[in-house]
Amino acid sequence: TDPLRVGIAGLGTVGASVVRVLASKATELQRQCGRPIAVTGVSARDASRDRGIDLSAAQWFDDPVALAKSDDIDVFVELMGGDEGPARQALKTALDSGRHVVTANKALLAKHGVALAEAAEKKGVLLNYEAAVAGGIPVIKTMREAMAGNSVSRVVGILNGTCNYILSRMEAEAISFEDCLKDAQRLGYAEADPTFDIEGNDTAHKLSILTSLAFGTKIAASDIYLEGISNISQADIRAAAALGYRIKLLGVAQRTDSGIEQRVHPTMVPNQSVIAQVMGVTNAVAISTDILGDLLLVGPGAGGNATASAVVGDIADIAKSQPGFQHGPVFGWPAKELKPYKKAQ
Ligand code: HSE
Repeated sequence: TDPLRVGIAGLGTVGASVVRVLASKATELQRQCGRPIAVTGVSARDASRDRGIDLSAAQWFDDPVALAKSDDIDVFVELMGGDEGPARQALKTALDSGRHVVTANKALLAKHGVALAEAAEKKGVLLNYEAAVAGGIPVIKTMREAMAGNSVSRVVGILNGTCNYILSRMEAEAISFEDCLKDAQRLGYAEADPTFDIEGNDTAHKLSILTSLAFGTKIAASDIYLEGISNISQADIRAAAALGYRIKLLGVAQRTDSGIEQRVHPTMVPNQSVIAQVMGVTNAVAISTDILGDLLLVGPGAGGNATASAVVGDIADIAKSQPGFQHGPVFGWPAKELKPYKKAQ
């Protein structure tokens, strides 16, 4: 059988991990997918950097847009980041030229996800983005597929591993915010611009995607009430602890009588609550629905391997899909049928 030919744009922490996992798990993946997965093209900013990965079988592209429309790929994997510029252009080019796409780019989806979903649905190709929300936790598949038919009333999550890592360490040790952030960067958890983590934008991007999946509405990231953790001090954490609480950066989306409420802010959660036990780079998503009831997903939220696990799962789904098969809509409902977003009063 023909291999699934994969082009990867972006070889940072996640991109390099994806290449590593595809190589080290080639046998398992081939057995699970019924065909081999081959990385036939790659693109990144610096061709000379040693990433400790074998790229000898892949063609190098300086321009990700050229990779996106290369005849030698079936799937374009976008791990560059950025909500405009080359990432957006390359992703759109791949969809318009009939290639499946896998992306971890929450900022891009939060801004242009509906238009990109429309492009994918028009071409009948897959746009998979499991890694864009809550790292390795399979929350997209859960909401889009496993929870079909459920009406969601509320989604609450710890959606940024960097922030949860910082808050957890500040509680456990007398360590400064700045030193924790430096460690989160060194461990490959933080965004290229870490203000996106600590000011809550990254949580908002992820929340906006979950809101769309939950309520069938257009993505409205700019509407989210936003407050990050950069002003949280040791004194705040100690004061909360003295009262029996922990501070967590939460994203909340819920249906109200007047519309949908979306907010991101540091929240005092009781020590005994399950969400308070979620420590370190771990993420959690709690979803309340009418049929299923209350679901809680907990798992690794950032880092090369955890994120690569979700990306590889998305690639494997494409490897298994049959040509001509009608794929389900990207955000659960056809992009053209997503309802206008109505903000709660
Ligand atoms: N910077 C993000 C985080 C990476 O810390 O959660 C995963 O999206």
